[in-house]
Amino acid sequence: MALYSEKVMDHFTNPRNVGKLDDADGIGEVGNAKCGDIMKIYIKVKDGIITDVKFNTFGCGSAIASSSMATEMIKGKPLSQALELTNKAVAEALDGLPAHKLHCSVLAEEAIRAAIKNYYDRNGIEYDHSQFPDASEEEEHAAEEQD
Ligand code: FES
Repeated sequence: MALYSEKVMDHFTNPRNVGKLDDADGIGEVGNAKCGDIMKIYIKVKDGIITDVKFNTFGCGSAIASSSMATEMIKGKPLSQALELTNKAVAEALDGLPAHKLHCSVLAEEAIRAAIKNYYDRNGIEYDHSQFPDASEEEEHAAEEQD
């Protein structure tokens, strides 16, 4: 059996929504400390709907395929729905990823959440902080390090 599904290969060789939005309403950037890969997601939001999304991923093929698929899955969707997107759903939509590559799809989930949080923060929109556990933990760690 091939290591990667046809969908993974398709989204890796022909990624959708690659690029940058100069007038983005929210930007999320996350990285994986172990492999050093970085993913950046830009969203455009109107009336609570993600009207456009682009990504830049400096990473492995699985991370590129995951970003491509994840952006397709949230385009045109309400923010609330995009926040519910899990890395598992992204991996499933790609017809699976090898076990040692599942962490690559986690970057997509985290980058989308970070972009939405950035949109909320920029616009002074109240949100449930428990929806962004990773980000708040990172902020806490950053604060601890500065002490
Ligand atoms: Fe780093 Fe895939 S190996 S995100």
